[in-house]
Amino acid sequence: MRYLITGGCGFIGCNMVRFVLSQQPEASVRILDRLTYAGSLDNLGEEADDPRVEFIHGDICDPEAARSATDGCDAIIHLAAESHVDRSIFGAEAAVRTNFEGTFRMLEAARDAGVQRFLHVSTDEVYGAAEGVSFDEDAPLLARNPYSASKAGADRLARAYWVTYDLPVVITRPANNYGPYQYPEKLVPLFVYRALRDEPLPVYGDGMQVRDWLHVEDHCRAMLTVLEHGVPGEAYNIAAHNERPNLETIRLILDELGKPESLIQHVTDRPGHDVRYSMKGDRLAALGWEPQTPWEAGMRATVRWFADNLTWLETAYQRGRDFFEKWYANR
Ligand code: NAD
Ligand code: DAU
Repeated sequence: MRYLITGGCGFIGCNMVRFVLSQQPEASVRILDRLTYAGSLDNLGEEADDPRVEFIHGDICDPEAARSATDGCDAIIHLAAESHVDRSIFGAEAAVRTNFEGTFRMLEAARDAGVQRFLHVSTDEVYGAAEGVSFDEDAPLLARNPYSASKAGADRLARAYWVTYDLPVVITRPANNYGPYQYPEKLVPLFVYRALRDEPLPVYGDGMQVRDWLHVEDHCRAMLTVLEHGVPGEAYNIAAHNERPNLETIRLILDELGKPESLIQHVTDRPGHDVRYSMKGDRLAALGWEPQTPWEAGMRATVRWFADNLTWLETAYQRGRDFFEKWYANR
């Protein structure tokens, strides 16, 4: 199988490159990545030199780059995105361009190349806030921030390419991922970075917002399951059934690092903050997948991974420094 993984140098992408190669030794993986602040060849480690891996430095919004990267591929795993909600609130343009227009370019390229499978990685955020409910795949998409709205548009565009052009698209809607190589703008690695430096942890509002935490390895296994067994045109929730208020996650991080809870500092809330994400996972369970990583052990191991990889953490943080200075300055 010849895979194209867009965004293969980002958090989930680099884990997926490793997972695919470990599960399918005969497979080859081509990566198309623009290497924004969030992506780095460092994330690939020794896989960067693996003869089964080919790296193309390019933008998914560039039709030529999309076309040449897709040429000769059997399946596309489309992960490239502007993935951070706060950045999309600070300025929506990059998210709209990459997440919507970029997906359009990849779908067009896939159509031209006649690929056998196009896995579009969407997000649980497309449903909007799950206040008192748990969404199945038929729930309306009521996205509420620029990131999730751009992802909702891309999610529906991907489905339209199945309905209209018979492109064999499958869609996944994963919950909040955690694990090694996550860029330190997201809650877990950012708070590890700051706690290790004894800096205050900026908790938005009361910190009681709920996220469903999915370990990235469980996510990679789910993606391969949907790619191999999913029905074209269908969307699949990837729920972890592991819903936690943010403060519980933050206290676990502090406990693992041996740092005091006095580092917690409540700051101005994120505008339009979705108070809870929650999904039903029956459709994917019917394909034989279920999450395997226990919450506390998985989260503690993740925190330790960041603490043990300080050079990686610092280098990644510095690439996004401009944004952090602006976003957190007056909170
Ligand atoms: P990430 O920000 O860590 O990585 C994104 C990657 O895409 C980077 O390598 C970046 O360089 C690349 N990229 C960005 N713009 C590009 C462009 N225009 N052309 C080519 N490459 C580009 O993101 P992630 O957390 O790994 O998320 C991957 C996907 O999974 C995204 O589509 C995201 O919406 C989705 N998702 C993420 C989570 C999560 O918790 N992280 C949960 C649900 C869904
Ligand atoms: O649910 C899936 C989504 O999960 C993905 O689609 C996104 O790509 C991914 O970034 C993530 O979005 P969140 O907004 O949930 O993740 P984030 O790590 O930014 O925030 C997690 C929670 O922590 C959220 O309730 C906001 C809160 N938070 C976050 C940051 C960065 C804080 O309280 N303070 C912070 O400084």
